[in-house]
Amino acid sequence: MNYENQKVAKVAETLRQRVSKLKNKEDILKAIELKALYAEIPTLPAEQRADFGKEINLLKRELQERVDSEQPTASNLPPIDVTAPFDANSGDKKPELLSSQNGSKHPLMTEMDAILDIFYRMGFNAVESRQIDDDYHMFESLNFPEGHPARDDYDTFMTKEGLIAPAHTSTMQNRVLKKYKENLEKGEPIAVVIPGRVFRNEDLDATHEHTFYQLEGIYVDKGINAGHLIATLKTFLEEYYQQELKVKTQPFYFPFTEPSFEFAINRPESLRKGTGTEDDDWLELLGCGMVHPNVLKMAGIDPSIYTGFAWGVGIDRLVLMKYGIEDIRHFESAKLEFLRQFA
Ligand code: DAH
Repeated sequence: MNYENQKVAKVAETLRQRVSKLKNKEDILKAIELKALYAEIPTLPAEQRADFGKEINLLKRELQERVDSEQPTASNLPPIDVTAPFDANSGDKKPELLSSQNGSKHPLMTEMDAILDIFYRMGFNAVESRQIDDDYHMFESLNFPEGHPARDDYDTFMTKEGLIAPAHTSTMQNRVLKKYKENLEKGEPIAVVIPGRVFRNEDLDATHEHTFYQLEGIYVDKGINAGHLIATLKTFLEEYYQQELKVKTQPFYFPFTEPSFEFAINRPESLRKGTGTEDDDWLELLGCGMVHPNVLKMAGIDPSIYTGFAWGVGIDRLVLMKYGIEDIRHFESAKLEFLRQFA
């Protein structure tokens, strides 16, 4: 574009150079030089004003066109998929799909799904636990009053501000009881399993890990007794291990159950792989009991009408036994040779 008027031509030259360097191209339309040209119009002899004005308008249009064509907009940039596993901005390569063989589901997740499926088939539903919780749910609502010595058994990680990395999935009992207590009014049971990741300040060895998974279960209705508890757990374990098992309970103590039990199985040969134990060995597998009346009360359920059972089982241990894995620490190790055996 050539401008007749020398002044306009000069300003055009300056502004063309400037616009290419501007980050925000739009700013060129506010250039002081352009404003000065407009300001000059009334100072000119009347017969020159129209031509001069026309030229400035042309310059303004030119600049506007440059702004429009140079401004990066969604339509003149190549689309970027920030989740794509390749660099969309380099070359003209077509996206390459990563082989799904490079990844696999973590064995604990595969097993957790299989375990949940067994409980779904028994009529339970599932609620996942939290990975950050508080004192009320970790202790208070489970009938561990402040200063209760059993609090120390849980080697719990907590912040000074009172946030807790839950040491068991029992943290969810109070929430689940409250959430589903309407079931009881409708004449239906509360039947919930709670998978979750839990944390303990443990001394680590082949059978102790600081991070592991538990499956909590809680069942409440009228007329529930310890026989229901034992039948439920035996049915689950026999389905999971695909064989008949001898089981027994022995007395134990948890503040949130009364009575409380340790539930043990007599390990058949197939479940002793990698453990180096003797023939007739009883293995304590999990904690369980009849839900303490105070725990029901704290959730607003009347313990003189309803009773229930609950348990908490370590998933890692169940899986170790199923596959004869010799060290629980493999699960959190991120070792591919280990993980790929389950792919
Ligand atoms: N929360 C216990 C633990 O991690 C396990 C447990 C015991 C859970 C008894 C229960 C229960 O629900 O009734 O050691």
